[in-house]
Amino acid sequence: MKIKMLLGSAVLALFSFNAFAADGAEQGAMKVLGHGEVSFKSDVMPVLHDHCVSCHQPGGKGHAKSGLDLTSYQGLMKGTMYGPVVIPGNSEASTFTKLLTGTNKGLKMPMGLNAAGTLDRQYILILRKWVAQGARNN
Ligand code: HEC
Repeated sequence: MKIKMLLGSAVLALFSFNAFAADGAEQGAMKVLGHGEVSFKSDVMPVLHDHCVSCHQPGGKGHAKSGLDLTSYQGLMKGTMYGPVVIPGNSEASTFTKLLTGTNKGLKMPMGLNAAGTLDRQYILILRKWVAQGARNN
């Protein structure tokens, strides 16, 4: 009886902790730093939209030159005219995430930042984590 009551309050405490932790902007940071799952729709897509889509959409120069369309999950998974750029579960081997931190034959993304420049670290972490978690359409 006593144990049941103790368990009950432990569960209650957990619930109220979660209610605090899952509040607003903190949730995004928790997803990147903690064990949370990264969402394609609400975490990855906004980064692509702000930093990649201007060139990687039909009519843009990234799309024209590589065939990579970053306006949708399907486009990203299809990759370039040479093949996929995402290997689900392996962000180190995926061109999509490799080009954010290092160059491949002088190429670095997003194109246009100087050689030393990169996407904000938090965004790189989001994209890498999403690939590592299986690159799902979630
Ligand atoms: C200013 C325009 C521009 C922006 C912004 C841009 N790209 Fe690109 N991207 C290009 C061009 C142009 C190419 C083709 C380069 C080539 O093949 O010489 C390309 C090619 C690529 C490739 C294929 C590389 C390969 O080796 O086949 C990937 C992956 C890529 N971009 C990812 C991204 C991501 C992710 C972002 C956003 C973080 C981004 N790009 C932002 C212009 C851009």
